[in-house]
Parts: sequence; C-alpha cells; structure tokens
Amino acid sequence: MPVETGTQMPAQRVDMGGYTLTENASLAALNTMRVAARASLLADIRDAARLPELLDFPALRHRPLLVLGEGSNMLFTGDFDGTVVLMSTRGVQLESEGDRARIAVAAGERWDDFVRWTLGQGYAGLENLILIPGTVGAAPIQNIGAYGCEVAEFVESVEAWDIRERRVVMLDHATCAFGYRDSLFKREAGRYIVTAVRFVLPRNRPLRTDYAGIEDELRRMGVDRPAPYHVAEAVARLRTRKLPDPAVIGNAGSFFKNPLVDAALADALRREHPGLPVWPQPDGRCKVSAAWMIESAGFKGFREGDAGVSNRHALVLVNHGAATGPQLWALAQQVMRGVHAKFGVQLEPEPVVIGV
Ligand code: EPU
Repeated sequence: MPVETGTQMPAQRVDMGGYTLTENASLAALNTMRVAARASLLADIRDAARLPELLDFPALRHRPLLVLGEGSNMLFTGDFDGTVVLMSTRGVQLESEGDRARIAVAAGERWDDFVRWTLGQGYAGLENLILIPGTVGAAPIQNIGAYGCEVAEFVESVEAWDIRERRVVMLDHATCAFGYRDSLFKREAGRYIVTAVRFVLPRNRPLRTDYAGIEDELRRMGVDRPAPYHVAEAVARLRTRKLPDPAVIGNAGSFFKNPLVDAALADALRREHPGLPVWPQPDGRCKVSAAWMIESAGFKGFREGDAGVSNRHALVLVNHGAATGPQLWALAQQVMRGVHAKFGVQLEPEPVVIGV
C-alpha cells in the first residue's frame, strides 16, 4: 500500500530517522572519478524499510531517480536534476552454515570488506573478486567479474524494491538474467533498487588460478598448495600493480567492456593483428581485448588536460585532478573513434554515464 505521509519536502539537510535528505547536494565525494556534479536532492538511506515512504514524497514521485553505492562505476557529465538515493545500509547475516553458507548482505556493505569477511570465515568462491571497488548492492547489477570469475555464480537471489510495482521482490538467480557485465537490473534500468543480496558460498571448491598471472604470482609468493586466501592475496597483488587506486587517482575501473564480436570478425582481426587477445565464448562469439586495441591505437597514457587514459592499464580512464565529466566523456568518445577507425570495432562504455 502506498504510504501517504502528506509531509512537505524539507529544505537543506534533514535527518528523517532511517534516512537523511540534503538539497542541492555535491556529488564530488560520492563518485570515484572525482568529478564535480550536484543532485537536486540526495537521500542517504540507512534503513531500506524506509524506502517506500521516501519514494512516496509527492516531490519525488515523478522525478528522475538514481541509486548510488560507492559511485565507483559512474561518470557524471552534468548535474543530476532529480533524487540520488545513496544506499548506506549495513548488515551481514549468516543464515545457514555447513558445507555451503547462505549469507544475506545489505546493499550498502562495501564489497571488498564482505569478500575479506567470507575468506576469514573459511568460505571459498569470492577470492578472485577481492579489491573490486563498490558496494554489495552494485555487484549483481553489472555482474562484477575479474580473474576468470563472476559474482553471478554465487548469487542465489537479490532482494529489491520494485519501483513500478511498489513492493519488495525477491528475484532468484535465473530471473536476474546475468550476462557479461550485465543483468536484468541493467536491462530494466530504473525499475529496481537493490536492497540486499543473498549469496551461497561453499567451504571447498576448485580454485581458479589459470587466469592472467595468478599462478606466477603464487609461485613468487612461495605457495605451492594454495588456499582461497592465497589466491586472494595473489589477485590483490596483481590488481595493485596493474590498476590505478581510486583513493589515489580518480577512476572508475575499466571504462570499456571487452567487445563481443562474431567468429568471422574475430578471425579477420586475429589475422590482421596476431597479438590481439581473443577469448572464444560458449555461444560461438568471441570477446576481444579492448585494452589491447586501445593501447595499439596509441591511447595508453594519453592525456588531454586532466582527462587521461591510465599509463598502467589502457582500459581505465583517469582524472589527473580537475577534469570535468564532459572532458572525460569527450576523451572516452575519442578513444572509441580511434579504436573504431583502426579495428572496425565499436567499444561500449562499462560504467553508467549520467547525462548523455
Ligand atoms: N592489455 C593491453 N594493454 C593494457 C592492459 C591489458 O594490451 O594496458 C591486454 C593484455 O594483452 C592482456 C589483456 O589485455 O592480456 C587482458 O588484460 P587484463 O587481464 O588486465 O584484463 P581486461 O580484459 O583488460 C578485465 C576486466 C577487469 C578485470 C580484469 C582482470 C572488463 C571490462 N574488465 O580486464 O575488470 O579486473 O579483466 O580479470 O571485463 C572492471 O570491470 O572495472 C575491471 C577492472
């Protein structure tokens, strides 16, 4: 049932109990690209049960809505003329234990804290996903992945507020329709606010160490019979070396997805560019390395004012200081044009780009 509060929108900054409202709020500290932007209203949610009441404010009902976790996968190209909902809910609940644990986690928990907690409890599965920035609630939306693993494999269900139906829904794994950096939540953008994620994690599971340097790193660490936490440490070392730290330099991780192309185009590309990494997919298509193409097109380390392509990893756009959202977006488009001109492949941005 809709809750009719009849409350008028408060001005400035008001603590409403389970959430805080701020008018004309700065988003600069709430996005890891560190670009300046403002939201007409910022609602910082500490209690997900209060979402229905908040969304029912007459002033909010027909305005655009944007949900933020850590803002680690987002580029603002302008102010947001609507309500930004910041999910700050906390809580990790071990629902059942045994060979497999069922764990319900509030959307606002930090992903990396949760991964470390599972490893500390002796559960396996998330070790390759250590150090990924962002919140637990954001993880299923883009089906975060790294080092040969994707979070989808461990997601049993997602609890969300369905804005259209105005009710809490529990979406099971199949309904979430996970794909490469994709899910129902991306395809039906704007419909759901993820409030909690339920994971199932085994105590024992074959480790995934065949991907990009993990085995070499384990050898360097002197580990010959790795446990999940060894793999996590190896991945953490690899990531720290390769990816710029958003706490040090503004960035949103990979700015482009690895494009999926059909087998014929993949063959042609491979013939013309023998060094290009190509990963065949179960559906017959091939994923090709965006980083390799960007580097080969001459963009690695390229800089236009304070907007740049990382010199450590060609997939990452960085803010060297005072780059604006439009400047970073202009650079992204320049990279896309350059790769298209050289390879005939259209890159797609991986983060959500707001305002274009
Ligand atoms: N490469 C280059 N130049 C570079 C970097 C990489 O040519 O500057 C080539 C190398 O040949 C390398 C290949 O690209 O073998 C793949 O590189 P990497 O292993 O770093 O992986 P990626 O495909 O570029 C993906 C994810 C990352 C994830 C890494 C590691 C996407 C869009 N990105 O990158 O995820 O950490 O694999 O598993 O799928 C993110 O999504 O924000 C993210 C960082």
